Amino acid sequence: MPQPLVIANWKMNPQTLTEAKQIFVGIKNAAKKHPSVSVVLAPPAIYLTELMKSAGGAVSLAAQNTHSEPLGSFTGEISPTMISALGAKYIIVGHSERRMIGESNGDVAKKIMATLKARLTPIVCIGESARDSQGNFFTFIETQVETAFEIVPRTRFKDIVIAYEPIWAIGTGATATVEDVKEMQLFILKILTKHFGRTAAEQVTIIYGGSVKPDNAAKLYEAGGMSGFLVGGASLKVTDFATIIVATAN
Ligand code: PGA
Repeated sequence: MPQPLVIANWKMNPQTLTEAKQIFVGIKNAAKKHPSVSVVLAPPAIYLTELMKSAGGAVSLAAQNTHSEPLGSFTGEISPTMISALGAKYIIVGHSERRMIGESNGDVAKKIMATLKARLTPIVCIGESARDSQGNFFTFIETQVETAFEIVPRTRFKDIVIAYEPIWAIGTGATATVEDVKEMQLFILKILTKHFGRTAAEQVTIIYGGSVKPDNAAKLYEAGGMSGFLVGGASLKVTDFATIIVATAN
């Protein structure tokens, strides 16, 4: 079994640096107790510099987004080079909340390459907005995976995290069932193998996101077959997030 990976995605929260620091201390203490789990925090970019001062060891930091160019005239954007220079290790790429405001599969592919070039790990989000009884959502997922990684050298697949986050489960409380998660883990492995070969496919870390909570994390982790979680809402409450870390610890 690969090392479990549990990622906190704070989105546009909390509203002050003081609160961010408080939650961060709590998460760090929880992570310290479970060194078998790799814990990552993706705060709003504006807090990265300050949180970085006390990161390291138990918790790594991630950015929630990046531009695909290393530098240039892009008002309001941050580059993978900047994120790397701060000491963060990961970048979330293609979250559904960014795809919703226009990020295409092509944009996601460029951001993945830019992230890898900066020697950071992309956490690549994929997921369907709804499930249909004909199973068309499988084709949708296959297109997202194929277009995201077609230009990535096979040797870099060990540096890739895929977060399967069905959009209907994000922030809704409607978690995918354990069977859905297991089926999707096998499906993602199958399409990675089909398009990129078995060796590369088996090196990718696959995690689940979408209403992961303290009361469903253990079951989803044990029977879902994925290597960890991307957690939104529950990552802002230290006790909830700590329980999710424990659920994946051995
Ligand atoms: P949620 O968000 O845990 O609040 O559903 C997950 C995500 O969007 O990454």
